Amino acid sequence: MRIIKATDYNDMSLNAAEIISEQIKYKPNSVLGLATGSTPLKTYKYLIEWYKNGDLDFSKITTFNLDEYYGLSKLDKQSYHYFMFDNLFSHININNDNIHIPDGTNKDVEQECLNYEKAILDADGIDLQLLGCGHNGHIGFNEPNEVFYTNTHLVNLEESTIQANKRFFETEEDVPRQSYTMGIKTIMQARKIIMLISGEGKKEIVKKAFFGPITPKVPASVLQLHRDFTLIVDKDAFSLCE
Ligand code: GLP
Repeated sequence: MRIIKATDYNDMSLNAAEIISEQIKYKPNSVLGLATGSTPLKTYKYLIEWYKNGDLDFSKITTFNLDEYYGLSKLDKQSYHYFMFDNLFSHININNDNIHIPDGTNKDVEQECLNYEKAILDADGIDLQLLGCGHNGHIGFNEPNEVFYTNTHLVNLEESTIQANKRFFETEEDVPRQSYTMGIKTIMQARKIIMLISGEGKKEIVKKAFFGPITPKVPASVLQLHRDFTLIVDKDAFSLCE
């Protein structure tokens, strides 16, 4: 595990965008695993800026997003589809056929999960996976659990996750209670992983996940076992670990 100690949110975002940019330049047909949430927003802004300056080309890039709320359609403003197009895809030259996000409207759960795993395999796996981290250590929507070894699946969201994510919805009742998510196993199969963590509110989870025991009760702790994992964390989030 490598740790990049960034000074602040902007520095964290710049570091992450540089790693993603190097990946794209080194392998123009890279397969990227992407994340939602507020943490990667500035990273995406840098990537868009560098694309607009002519420094980055996404035409051969393939992407797989970590998760999607169950029951929300692509057109729903709260869906992760909408988020990704709004904050990244609509501003770069990615081919729409190369974008993969679980289909929240597919009620055939088994088929949706198998399809997603197969699509990742068919793309020859994920070269670089970008992750954020929930306050309870969730990655994608892998909530604290008894086991690590899960593929893409439908998950029941924890009350704390519903509370944390309700800021994006009009009312708490509107927050979906379930989500499709890549599993821990899917994520750990990525060849390279970077995780971004920013802000005081995440300082406890940084300590637990990366300076404590590896346990499915803190899903992000499994990343300690990955052979090419970089944590990019800002000062405030790292403050209990100095
Ligand atoms: C959601 C997403 C995660 C993300 C997490 C943290 O639950 N499913 O992929 O990492 O939120 O979000 P934020 O970056 O807004 O703190």
